[in-house]
Amino acid sequence: MLPASVLSVIARVTATHQSTLSKHRAKPTGGTLRTIHLLGLCASLRRESNNAIILSTISTELLPPNVLLHIHPLHDLPLYNGDQDGDDAPVPVVALREAVNHAEGVILASPEYSHGMSGVMKNALDWLSSPHRRSPLKDKPTLMLTGSTAFIGGARAQQQLSETLWAIQAALVPYPPIVISDIHTKISDHRLTHSATREFLARGIVTMEQSIRMEASKPELIWA
Ligand SMILES: Cc1cc2nc3c(=O)[nH]c(=O)nc-3n(C[C@H](O)[C@H](O)[C@H](O)COP(=O)(O)O)c2cc1C
Repeated sequence: MLPASVLSVIARVTATHQSTLSKHRAKPTGGTLRTIHLLGLCASLRRESNNAIILSTISTELLPPNVLLHIHPLHDLPLYNGDQDGDDAPVPVVALREAVNHAEGVILASPEYSHGMSGVMKNALDWLSSPHRRSPLKDKPTLMLTGSTAFIGGARAQQQLSETLWAIQAALVPYPPIVISDIHTKISDHRLTHSATREFLARGIVTMEQSIRMEASKPELIWA
């Protein structure tokens, strides 16, 4: 049996540890899970973009409860120019960085153009890769999808996209690549209607939600 003085120290240390843990644990609000805000970026600027339709179907039909997806347009983003980067970056760049900063996770949707990701996406990621080492995407849970009218579904674009995201040190959600082939046949009336694709996407988003909630519930490391 340990002496009472030692037991009292252990009890105090344990109580402090428990209080630290509960301080950093994501707290449910009113008995329900708190709402998670995700951001969607679509790399096709086309009015009838299939990739944009996928994102909008996710936002209206495929999210789990207590998860919201806000879609941020990339139409006004200028081409990356280091001379314009910094504190006085163009307004659409500042807006994009703020939107990513405020989101807890990001979903990127890109078509494949000439065996690569869309230039719109690469340009957005170039702006988001800066400031160096303090990118708004660094450590941000990120899920990517590619949709193409061809049978490969944009797999090559996705490979490039993942290289770039590694460079930026985004936290890629551990989920099999979401490549949507023959995309035009899976959409009708401006909705993704293909049930297997809907289910695969929905499971990817639940995986993302779980990693965000788990990360939020981890205690911070306290260095003595
Ligand atoms: C210039 C251009 C190049 C393309 N290159 C490819 C390609 O290399 N591989 C592929 O799978 N699809 C390719 N496509 C087909 C697009 O992926 C397809 O049109 C897709 O639906 C475009 O996305 P959106 O509907 O969201 O605009 C290309 C389309 C265009 C316009």
